[in-house]
Amino acid sequence: MRERLEALRDEALAKVAVAKDVKALQDVRVAYLGKKGPITEVLRGMGKLSAEERPVIGQMANDVRDAIKVQVELKEKELEAAAIEKQLANESIDVTLPGRPVQGGSTHPLTQVVEEVEEAFLGLGFSVAEGPEVEVDYYNFEALNLPKDHPARDMQDSFYFTEELLLRTHTSPVQARTMELHKGKGPVKVICPGKVFRRDDDDATHSHQFMQIEGLFVDENVRMSDLKGVLEQFAKSFFGEDRQIRLRPSFFPFTEPSVEVDVSCGMCGGKGCRVCKQSGWIEVLGAGMVHPRVLEMSGFDSTKYSGFAFGMGVERLAMLKYDIDDIRHFYTNDIRFLAQFKRV
Ligand code: DAH
Repeated sequence: MRERLEALRDEALAKVAVAKDVKALQDVRVAYLGKKGPITEVLRGMGKLSAEERPVIGQMANDVRDAIKVQVELKEKELEAAAIEKQLANESIDVTLPGRPVQGGSTHPLTQVVEEVEEAFLGLGFSVAEGPEVEVDYYNFEALNLPKDHPARDMQDSFYFTEELLLRTHTSPVQARTMELHKGKGPVKVICPGKVFRRDDDDATHSHQFMQIEGLFVDENVRMSDLKGVLEQFAKSFFGEDRQIRLRPSFFPFTEPSVEVDVSCGMCGGKGCRVCKQSGWIEVLGAGMVHPRVLEMSGFDSTKYSGFAFGMGVERLAMLKYDIDDIRHFYTNDIRFLAQFKRV
């Protein structure tokens, strides 16, 4: 019995020593220490031993079992450590590899143009005002001298939510809102950039959503020559020092007199070319002297105060400045288009 136990121990320890992985080790453990293993069998047969032999063999069988157990555990730890080592070696990170570049975005060209225009007018003493895109009929039309059923409302096909609520068709309502806030006291000197909406079919020069920048200056003794001076300054700072402007008579319900403002063509210097359709001039904005009725409706005494206003399309400015041939480029957001406007 003693020899058998010793032989079992040596055999088991030899197998533990050569076990290549955790699975092989488990097999050895089950084979020698399991319920059906030889050591359990020895312990079961103890009943047949003499009273003197029983404790001696029992003790020995327990020692053999413990010895195998301890070696199995040691070997298990060893194998686990080796497995981790191997995994670490396989997964090692090469910290010297160059990183993947992150694609940076750019400021949208329309935002850039708005900022440039703001810059130009801030330098002339204007501040920036804003108004809501969902507007009430009163500010979008009524307060601008466009009563209900006025034929000029047809010029601006609108998106209505209800009879009184619509997406603003221009930034002019911010004029009325700003004047109201000043409670009849000048000066009011603001530009108002923002999105506007019209029921147009989209094509190369029309978009149902676009941007405008409104300008308004109300004070005592504001004259048409002030309007001309301010716009000339703006044209030169936005398009270039060599540019000139000219005013042509026009009509807007909220201004009297009203003008259309042209800038001399930058492509041909005013000689006439494809871009200006041989005229030497390019139309850029609408403007005029604020209609006395508009001043009165927003709380200003039109015998004391006068003012000028203007409105321009941001996409149009951007298209002229950067020679862009289709307004839809601004809204389809092709990265190849946008990336050309990266500021450095
Ligand atoms: N609101 C006009 C439009 O959308 C543009 C405009 C013209 C604004 C003349 C003005 C102005 O303030 O004086 O067509």
